[in-house]
Amino acid sequence: MKLSSRLETVARHVLPGLPAADIGADHALLSVYLVRQGISPRVIIGELNRGPYERAQRYVREQGLEMCIEVRQGDGLEVLAPHEVASVVIAGMGGKNIAGILLKSLARAYTYQRYVLQPMRPYYPLRKVLADLGWAIVDEEVAADDAEFYPIVVVEPRRCPAYHLGELELELGPRILERATQPGVKEFLQQELVRYERAIAGLRQAGSAEARDKLAAYHKLKMRLEEMMDPGWS
Ligand SMILES: C[S@@+](CC[C@H](N)C(=O)[O-])C[C@H]1O[C@@H](n2cnc3c(N)ncnc32)[C@H](O)[C@@H]1O
Repeated sequence: MKLSSRLETVARHVLPGLPAADIGADHALLSVYLVRQGISPRVIIGELNRGPYERAQRYVREQGLEMCIEVRQGDGLEVLAPHEVASVVIAGMGGKNIAGILLKSLARAYTYQRYVLQPMRPYYPLRKVLADLGWAIVDEEVAADDAEFYPIVVVEPRRCPAYHLGELELELGPRILERATQPGVKEFLQQELVRYERAIAGLRQAGSAEARDKLAAYHKLKMRLEEMMDPGWS
């Protein structure tokens, strides 16, 4: 079956051979893919809302996969028992929403081995919570679908001290920035650079004291990003 590049990239980071969960999965496409590709022997889908929950159930039934994919209605990780799965996917939700799901069931959240997270903007609230918790960002990737870029953050929850991430790392990802010159990543960062340039142009027009402070902050971010994308530039 053909999956979007975004969800296919997510699937590559799910721990193979072990049960997985997909939280917020109205179309159930990823879960069906994980089972059909032999990546996950069993998947639990968690859906908050009635309509999407029924839609996921219907698709799983149509695919004849009720024995391997269970659809549960509920909020975030509350649909899972501690240690019930190895990998938890949370994809296609805002960074703040994903962070909220982790924090709401924190004790339980520590019992799963790996999270494969695909936040939508703004990204920084998610990485801020991960850094405050001391959870290691073990890998990050950028998936591209129809000229849209999607960062994917792979996290392993550990009881480690909080660590610091700078503003650029919070928004764009420490593992992504390490590979700033690589194809795929570079295009994503170029798009972000254009966003900073547009923000700077807008703030210049505004001219207020608040806009001046923001302008200085955006300038710093833009310069750091340019340095990372072209280390010989400075
Ligand atoms: C935009 S869809 C993303 C679907 C899929 N994960 C993907 O990436 O294509 C977000 C889904 O998350 C569900 N959702 C939002 N908050 C949730 C929560 N706290 N717990 C479970 N599901 C949630 C919504 O009902 C919706 O179906």
